[in-house]
Amino acid sequence: MSVRVSLARGLLRLGAFVQSLALMVMRPDDLVEFSRQSYARPRSVEGWSEDALLDSGLSSSELDLVAAVSDTTGNLLLLGVGGGREAIPLARMGFQVTGVDYVPAMVDRAIESAARRGLKIEGLVQEISRLDVPAGAYDVVWLSRAMYSCVPTRARRVEMVRRIARALKPGGWLLCQFHWCPSPRPPGRGRFLRRLFAACTLGNLTYEAGDTLWLDVEFVHQFSSEEAIRSELEESGLSVVCIKTGPKLGGSAVCRKSLETGQNPET
Ligand SMILES: C[S@@+](CC[C@H](N)C(=O)[O-])C[C@H]1O[C@@H](n2cnc3c(N)ncnc32)[C@H](O)[C@@H]1O
Repeated sequence: MSVRVSLARGLLRLGAFVQSLALMVMRPDDLVEFSRQSYARPRSVEGWSEDALLDSGLSSSELDLVAAVSDTTGNLLLLGVGGGREAIPLARMGFQVTGVDYVPAMVDRAIESAARRGLKIEGLVQEISRLDVPAGAYDVVWLSRAMYSCVPTRARRVEMVRRIARALKPGGWLLCQFHWCPSPRPPGRGRFLRRLFAACTLGNLTYEAGDTLWLDVEFVHQFSSEEAIRSELEESGLSVVCIKTGPKLGGSAVCRKSLETGQNPET
């Protein structure tokens, strides 16, 4: 009996190890595509567009973020708009909202749902780490619901924030949330085998501690040090006004572009 129990436990461990290889076989572009396919499923689009969710308003942590900005009438670029849950209350506050999402059906739903509530928002179908919008056009860029963490590799996140900095007006704000895990699980004995698997399959050679396939649905990078997120944000040329973390999963950051028009966030 105990042999069978031990065998069962071994099989569970083996199963978890095999499952962990899914993250290692994908390169950064594949990881983005993996998440996009998950969100593009009709069930996902329906779920993020349900009226009950859309009318639930901003969460308390999101209200905290928006409180950093005194003027709520400017142009706001919302990255990862989904069905419009945040776009709707932000437009109601007076912002001119442009929602970005790599799933066209999400963008359509957000625009329709806002229109049904008497609000007009704009939409763009883009992948947020390859953002391509006019320079100096936005007062606020908004990435809530840990969207900052959905981008694989530090280099790609820094490039995303550079593009955000370019999109902001002088004095503009980046308000963002990220996955926060202050006590990550130690990597375990499978770490070497996972890296070997990535090398043999020419897969995820850029794996970083904190990378996960969250709920087997999307790529997420979990931060476990404030310094790590601060350095990414500052490398793009923005000033970090504050970073908030706590015992819970989410962290948030408020950043600002310099008021001097001569600032070049690309340098
Ligand atoms: C967790 S949902 C949140 C939706 C909305 N912000 C909300 O809170 O209701 C994430 C949304 O961001 C989009 N998304 C995720 N990663 C993205 C990326 N790299 N580029 C563009 N859109 C992305 C997904 O398609 C999805 O609509």
